[in-house]
Amino acid sequence: MSPFGFWGLPAALLALLYCPGSGEKAPEQVAVKRGEPYKVNCTSSCPHPQIRGLETTLNKVELQKHAQWTEYLVSNVSQDTVMYCHFTCSGKQMSKTISVRVFHPPEQVLLELQPARVTVGRPFTIVCSVPAVAPLEKLTLTLLHGKKPLHTQTFGSGKDDPQEATATHNATAHKEDGHHNFSCRAELDLRSLGGDIISSVSEARALQVYEPMQDNQMVIITVVSVLLFLFVTSVLLCFIFGQQWHQRQRRTYRVQEAWRTLRRTWAQPT
Ligand SMILES: *[C@@H]1O[C@H](CO)[C@@H](O)[C@H](O)[C@H]1NC(C)=O
Ligand SMILES: *[C@@H]1O[C@H](CO)[C@@H](O)[C@H](O)[C@H]1NC(C)=O
Ligand SMILES: *[C@@H]1O[C@H](CO)[C@@H](O)[C@H](O)[C@H]1NC(C)=O
Repeated sequence: MSPFGFWGLPAALLALLYCPGSGEKAPEQVAVKRGEPYKVNCTSSCPHPQIRGLETTLNKVELQKHAQWTEYLVSNVSQDTVMYCHFTCSGKQMSKTISVRVFHPPEQVLLELQPARVTVGRPFTIVCSVPAVAPLEKLTLTLLHGKKPLHTQTFGSGKDDPQEATATHNATAHKEDGHHNFSCRAELDLRSLGGDIISSVSEARALQVYEPMQDNQMVIITVVSVLLFLFVTSVLLCFIFGQQWHQRQRRTYRVQEAWRTLRRTWAQPT
């Protein structure tokens, strides 16, 4: 086996890719917002290219023409398409492929807590939705609690049409959940398509968390109130009956005293 046996094939491929004047260049990827016009700069390394132009099914206007480059404006890009910049250099036809991927940024990010009021220990659901977004496979939805990511969702490739993307996360309510708000971040990463990262964040939503203690507390308060009422009533009753008993005792005593005095007065003359 030759010393270059293993590396031979990749090296050959690399040489092919970088070989100057090999006619076709690697296609250029571009991301264009749906319905927006797009400027294309067709350049050539040739000092004096003869025939040149842009091949596309879309409407185009030539904006500027210089010796080595021409700028075009392509209007109303509504779906994925391929364009070709072509020119002839010393009788040799050359072209560059531009692959256009139409995107729809996440303009609206909606967050819902279901339910918004929950008792500690009970489940609740966080739902984030983006009404119209494309391409889906470049989208990441992150559900956040304060700054902490709770759940991240990516998507498989969908149709080219913008469509709704949804991320759902089930959680159990904790006492501290009410301290930080929930939000949802949508990120469309177009870097592999020659674009940027477009991100958008939903409005913050607060979760109202209730202690299950509240019901028990009500029961305890009621029981204590009833016991207190019974205690006070019985003390009052004891007092009233005690007073009456004393009065009756005193009355009996007075009757006995009068009777004794009477008997004494009767007994004296004898
Ligand atoms: C088009 O590309 C050429 C070569 O890179 C550059 O010199 C020129 O300024 C570009 N034109 C526009 C309008 O960007
Ligand atoms: C843009 O393209 C769409 C679909 O191809 C078409 O329905 C619409 O009329 C076009 N708008 C303009 C301003 O050309
Ligand atoms: C949570 O969001 C509400 C509005 O929905 C806001 O008034 C409140 O200050 C936020 N709380 C925190 C801790 O960020």
